[in-house]
Amino acid sequence: MTKSVLIVNGPNLNMLGKREPEIYGHTTLSDIEQKCSSHAKELGLSIEFMQSNHEGDLVNTIQDAHGKHAGIIINAAAYTHTSVALMDALKAVGLPVIEVHLSNVFAREDFRHKSYISFAATGVICGLGAKGYILALDALTEIFDQ
Ligand code: DQA
Repeated sequence: MTKSVLIVNGPNLNMLGKREPEIYGHTTLSDIEQKCSSHAKELGLSIEFMQSNHEGDLVNTIQDAHGKHAGIIINAAAYTHTSVALMDALKAVGLPVIEVHLSNVFAREDFRHKSYISFAATGVICGLGAKGYILALDALTEIFDQ
């Protein structure tokens, strides 16, 4: 059966392309979704791609992944640095999780060096722009095949 991956995007990522292009580049979230879709096809995976600016919506979507998806890729954006609720939801579903950030959060402000998501993540990819999502799909494929 085709394995499905949930790709979760947090607040302000809907603004990619317009938002601080010197940090996040010109790629839009819809470009990223298309790249993920076509790469997932090559890997024989299906994806559900979502974005929300609301923490509770993100928690609900993660909870719903149980029994529906085989793994999760998450760029929780600013909630990365604040959300115990997202960390708990990821731990609760118990799926492999790859945390992605477009920018290198460790080369930025101190408050971005702390990630609650990392406590629940199998691996973290940051600083490689949209390519990070593609590498996360590759990483999950390897994890699924183990
Ligand atoms: C981000 C990094 C976060 O610190 C920031 O709040 C974001 C985007 C990234 O993809 O680089 O919104 O997650």
